[in-house]
Amino acid sequence: MSRSAHPAGPRHADVLTDGHYSAPPADLNALDPKVWAHTVGRDADGAVTVGGLPVTRLAEEYGTPAYILDESDFRERARAWRTAFGADADVFYAGKAFLSRAVVRWLHEEGLNLDVCSGGELATALSAGMPAERVAFHGNNKSPEEIERAVAAGVGRIVLDSFQEIVRVAHTAQALGKRQRVQIRITVGVEAHTHEFIATAHEDQKFGIPLAGGQAAEAVRRALQLDGIELIGIHSHIGSQIFDMSGFEVAAHRVVGLLKDIRDEHGVELPEIDLGGGLGIAYTSDDDPREPHEIAKALTEIVTRECESARLRTPRISVEPGRAIVGPTAFTLYEVGTVKPLDGLRTYVSVDGGMSDNIRTALYDAEYSVALVSRTSDAEPMLARVVGKHCESGDIVVKDAFLPGDLAPGDLIAVPATGAYCRSMASNYNHVLRPPVVAVRDGEARVIVRRETEEDLLRLDVG
Ligand code: LLP
Repeated sequence: MSRSAHPAGPRHADVLTDGHYSAPPADLNALDPKVWAHTVGRDADGAVTVGGLPVTRLAEEYGTPAYILDESDFRERARAWRTAFGADADVFYAGKAFLSRAVVRWLHEEGLNLDVCSGGELATALSAGMPAERVAFHGNNKSPEEIERAVAAGVGRIVLDSFQEIVRVAHTAQALGKRQRVQIRITVGVEAHTHEFIATAHEDQKFGIPLAGGQAAEAVRRALQLDGIELIGIHSHIGSQIFDMSGFEVAAHRVVGLLKDIRDEHGVELPEIDLGGGLGIAYTSDDDPREPHEIAKALTEIVTRECESARLRTPRISVEPGRAIVGPTAFTLYEVGTVKPLDGLRTYVSVDGGMSDNIRTALYDAEYSVALVSRTSDAEPMLARVVGKHCESGDIVVKDAFLPGDLAPGDLIAVPATGAYCRSMASNYNHVLRPPVVAVRDGEARVIVRRETEEDLLRLDVG
């Protein structure tokens, strides 16, 4: 949403939450390709279509709310990352953004690897046929059972996050008669320009081993001494929803600096570095994300340059995009239940989901866009706030948005760019049932994660 001073002074209908004024977009029926999945358009009746199917039909068939995922867009984005990094690098899709067995199969087919961070994600990956050697296992507190399962399954790498874990993984692997490939996750001390809760490379937080004060070097020393593990590289993830490449530049500089120190001290050149994920996507028209080929070029150049000046062989690079692959490929389809104009303020539009299917607005103050998708409208724009059905006033899906003034109960609206961290962070708050994920492709739709039922809820409640 564009933030501009209002030429005629304050007017209630366009005062945003943060006190700025905003003009409504010129055409409320337009769908900005930056925030919508690739195959999204409108049909002759004005209904939004995706993968060749009108949302009105999808709502009839699968109900609302529902996450509608554009499979060909997902595959295209996955392929774009793969192609951009080429044969000398590895792309690990971060499963935490959204994981299902269908997604694992698509990734496998498109030549990507997978980053998992729990036993549940590992189980999903393996059950869908992802070869274990293409899986990286993450987490700051992996349980002994998770470590054993990961080592026994033969995952390609475990990313070590603490001194205790170095020993745990080494002992587990030795007990199983294996030598586990590992990386050490370090914090490089970068302040990523993103929300505090999703920044991960400053020192005062739970992930990784600090480079500062020599802790990372000490972790490397210990890892190199243990027979059960083979140290293959250093890992750094600086945060999430980042647009500015300078944080990666500093991170790469410091990771390469550590590789150089390791070479100088141990005579070992570690063959890999992982720069994590975190690349931002467009949630509103104001966001300008970079294309995978630009990111690949920038990261490769940084690492190559740093290695040349340190006289190191350039290590194999890996990256772990999650949001940038799945985020833009899905939207959440809601039915409007009530429309409540509050004089002098804004109009509250209640939908049949809310913070249980998208916690990001409440948790990170995230901004989203929204559009009327079951029809077009020429009505005057109204400043709206899209809220859910939960018993909480912070149950907001879209804080500030313009919707047509004739919006009415029964209309379908959709929130784009909800593919990442929405279904995967969904809850059952108020015993609301988690929505399905419906994949569409070439005029066909199929449920890849079904809607939860009351039976599902009651099955867990063993009384
Ligand atoms: N690699 C590691 C080690 C990570 O911790 C993460 C995300 C990723 C890769 C993928 O980051 P991405 O490319 O998706 O930004 N729930 C928050 C995001 C938390 C991210 C956690 N780690 C959100 O909804 O914004």
